[in-house]
Amino acid sequence: MSESEGAVISELGARASAQSAPNAREAVRALRPSQIREVANAGFGVPDVLPFWFGESNQVTPQFIRDAASRALADGATFYTHNLGVAPLREALAAYVGKLHGATRPAEIAVTSAGVNALMLATQLVAGAGDRVVAVTPLWPNLVEIPKILGATVETVALTYGADGWTLDLDRLLAALTPGTRMLMVNSPNNPTGWVMTREQQQAVLDRCRQLGIWLVADEVYERLYYGNDATVAPSFLDLANRDERVIAVNSFSKAWLMTGWRLGWIVAPERLMEDLAKLVEYNTSCAPSFVQMAGIAAVKDGEQFTRSLVADLRASRDYLVTALQRIPGIDVRAPAGAMYLFFRLPGADRSLELCKALVRESALGLAPGSAFGPEGEGFVRWCYACDTARLDAGVARLRAFMEAHPASSHATGHRG
Ligand SMILES: Cc1ncc(COP(=O)(O)O)c(C=O)c1O
Repeated sequence: MSESEGAVISELGARASAQSAPNAREAVRALRPSQIREVANAGFGVPDVLPFWFGESNQVTPQFIRDAASRALADGATFYTHNLGVAPLREALAAYVGKLHGATRPAEIAVTSAGVNALMLATQLVAGAGDRVVAVTPLWPNLVEIPKILGATVETVALTYGADGWTLDLDRLLAALTPGTRMLMVNSPNNPTGWVMTREQQQAVLDRCRQLGIWLVADEVYERLYYGNDATVAPSFLDLANRDERVIAVNSFSKAWLMTGWRLGWIVAPERLMEDLAKLVEYNTSCAPSFVQMAGIAAVKDGEQFTRSLVADLRASRDYLVTALQRIPGIDVRAPAGAMYLFFRLPGADRSLELCKALVRESALGLAPGSAFGPEGEGFVRWCYACDTARLDAGVARLRAFMEAHPASSHATGHRG
């Protein structure tokens, strides 16, 4: 091809792309928008709406943590920090993780801009275009969509719902972990179901991942919100794995210390990954905000008593709401072992998105539709119970009134029949 022919072709190519519609990449356009947001957006402007749709408490972050941030700001903590976080926070987190899950060094900790950023970084570290990722569902949508942004394909293994609530068919999960699978995502305690993976299941999954060289990304952001026995933390892959194998644990300050708006989290990973992880942090966020990291130090060092009383309150709220909902005919609800949600069945929820929109529109009650968490979540709705009983009572009264006004099966539209 002559030089002038080449110039004509590239000119034509440039004109063609200039004339095509200005769309995002196909992988991004194919992402599912959050149905939780869809319902919440429908609720803006509805007066007096009771929002149980998001995973956060209606209480502010404890005072001692806010004070630590104020002091840090007053002291001028307004600069960039090390990509992997300030040393005192990495040290405090290593001690905290060590107490819960066995010896962990600061060099195995990376500070992130909350759990969702930690999930993105962990996935960017190990999975890319064309890789096969397996995820246990129903699941908070971000975990399933993040690998897709990077061009990976996600295969899901669904929990099943029965007399014992949500349970895992371990054999099905092990069978899905085929040679060539790049990464497994497990979120336990699970959002939305509250399901908690048992120690025995974790061991079997870890063994399989070891055997096949599969990366295990464990989303353990709800590990402290655990109601089993007298334990203060849910079973963790970190209890079983060595710190130098293919296990990356993701965690967050959002849930155990009520710090959702602060955007602070961390990763526990093999030290040999940290140099590459630091590059990814640089190109994503560069670092977590420095005064927020100072607040994180206070949370980790002085927050144990707070977390324990939070969990006691959450347990009481969970039991209170389960009892109240069980009194409503047609509702099928059980108390889950972890997290901060009830994921329950009710008539009309076979079209859960429409039901939740009708609930917010007609009764100012904000719940999340089960379908937001994958097709196996259809038929269910999610209620975050992290609030006081008066608020729960008000929500239950609204749900009961809605159900009485729309007897069986026509709930979803609120208009038919
Ligand atoms: C399962 C799960 N992982 C991670 C996160 C991330 O939380 P954050 O980004 O606030 O740390 C959430 C938030 O609700 C979650 O439910």
